[in-house]
Amino acid sequence: STRAAEAVERLTRWHDDFPTPGVRFADLTPVFADAVGFHAVIDHLGDVAADADLVAGVDARGFLLGAGVAAVRGTGVVAVRKAGKLPPPVLSREYTLEYGSAALEIPADGIDLAGRRVLLLDDVLATGGTLAAAAELFASAGAQVVAAAVVLELSFLNGRARQGDYPLTSIVRR
Ligand code: PRP
Repeated sequence: STRAAEAVERLTRWHDDFPTPGVRFADLTPVFADAVGFHAVIDHLGDVAADADLVAGVDARGFLLGAGVAAVRGTGVVAVRKAGKLPPPVLSREYTLEYGSAALEIPADGIDLAGRRVLLLDDVLATGGTLAAAAELFASAGAQVVAAAVVLELSFLNGRARQGDYPLTSIVRR
């Protein structure tokens, strides 16, 4: 929505050379702290992929989006965790980041993911490795990512090209 995009444009904190030299970091904390901004973002993302029956958010700021959207839609939410946070057994996917490499994990039992239709959420799409790894995790569990959505897409990093065949929505592209 226009209101969501305006809040992102107005309130995002940009910081050069964080967390490593050469990276310009987009911190959406003030967008989420703003009542109008947060609700506009959640409403916007809540309209994506009406056919999804499960919402997932990526560690860490994606958790806020996943919880908000799941609450609005009446679905459950899965927190896709950084490696080492969940007890075994887990499914794990390594990925490269704009700054370093890491792994994402989801539980390998306890959630019946077979055939589930997942809406995957994160705050920022940069190089795209994070979102792609999260989508691969759900695919490896027999679920289908029916759509992915982010608040801010850094299009010059071309992260969109690394995604699977699901549609990718972004509220603001920079
Ligand atoms: C940031 C951001 C995305 C990811 C995007 O998270 O929140 O999850 O990077 O980067 P990519 O598109 O190049 O993969 P970060 O890894 O900094 O983790 P955090 O949310 O736990 O701080």
